Amino acid sequence: MRQRIWIFAVLAVSLTATVFAEKPPVSAGLALTPPMGFNTWNKFGCDVSDELVRGMADAMVKSGMKDAGYQYIVIDDCWQVARDANGNIIADPQRFPSGIKALADYVHSLGLKFGIYSDAGSKTCAGRPGGRGHEFQDALQYAAWGVDYLKYDWCNTTTQDAQASYGLIRDALDASGRPIVLSICEWGKAKPWLWGKDVGGNLWRTTDDINDTWESHEKWPDGSCCRRGVVDILDLQVGLESFAGPGHWNDPDMLEVGNGGMSTIEYRSHFSLWAILAAPLMAGNDLRSMTPEIRDLLINKEVIGVNQDALGREGRRVWKDGDREVWSKEQQDGSRAVALLNRGGSEQQIPLKWEQIGYPAHVPATVRDLWAHKELGKFTGDFSAMVPPHGVVMVIVRP
Ligand code: GLA
Repeated sequence: MRQRIWIFAVLAVSLTATVFAEKPPVSAGLALTPPMGFNTWNKFGCDVSDELVRGMADAMVKSGMKDAGYQYIVIDDCWQVARDANGNIIADPQRFPSGIKALADYVHSLGLKFGIYSDAGSKTCAGRPGGRGHEFQDALQYAAWGVDYLKYDWCNTTTQDAQASYGLIRDALDASGRPIVLSICEWGKAKPWLWGKDVGGNLWRTTDDINDTWESHEKWPDGSCCRRGVVDILDLQVGLESFAGPGHWNDPDMLEVGNGGMSTIEYRSHFSLWAILAAPLMAGNDLRSMTPEIRDLLINKEVIGVNQDALGREGRRVWKDGDREVWSKEQQDGSRAVALLNRGGSEQQIPLKWEQIGYPAHVPATVRDLWAHKELGKFTGDFSAMVPPHGVVMVIVRP
């Protein structure tokens, strides 16, 4: 008898535990590798339309970018114009005459995913209606449209608390029942790397906006700081490495590759470094008219492989001597992806020592060049390469 009571008690306890156990949110398991795609902002700003977005989706397929792993087509600011009497967000009827749902359906029909933009404050950065006070209503609308990715900006937020605001939109997105990637765009002001993962963010901007330049701190028209060049953004990533991992990434902002402000060598460095940083790879150029050179750069599968490595480690700067730097990223198979970076204005030899990347000096390792697509041979203890000004040599070192 006593035994039976015990069995009942155990059954009752485990049943209650099952019923009340917290179910994982629908967004669990998203962005296990850094998101890859295209976003309208860097090239087109507010000049967005149905035609443009369809054109980019077509080009993503035709260019080979889809095959290389790019997935998300994201409309940034300026698709929205107002709210109706019930508070529903309205897309610009002139620029999106067939509506957002039809556009999302088209993107999905190509086997791609669809993303959109809003803002945690009362208005977006371009002055369009923001999300504040409409979080659950907007999330339901996004889900009904078939949105897979939301970039959520931080303009016009006055005294709002960043952590609470992003937690709220994550709850709203999850409540919609659709798994939606949340891209936190708070520019690093409240150190989102410390809380972004806990509030369900999948990526968070770590800095102000990128500029299509190698080096600069261009101020905004109102004098506030800054649009930053590639190496300025790079410096701000140092120390943030440990906060990134599968499902939650540091975002040093979208790519400028192909937008015309830098040389091909500089774009190659930009892309290599973003790959090493396990950064989201969101192309920001006109995919319909890019040169074969830029396309080949964006679809270099060996470099993308480093970015998308399943271990999900962010790379770090392991050596610096003036303008010469070594960046290293640990890969799942134990190898290291390494970028030898020359920030200076003349060609320089850059040495790589095994101890910088965590290998004993006596270990022989093969070195493969990821831009030349060539095995460079077997080396023991060190390797070095001549690197052009503003260039990188990117290799895999495999013991
Ligand atoms: C901010 C963001 C940019 C872009 C614009 C849109 O500046 O940081 O990436 O989304 O707003 O207005």
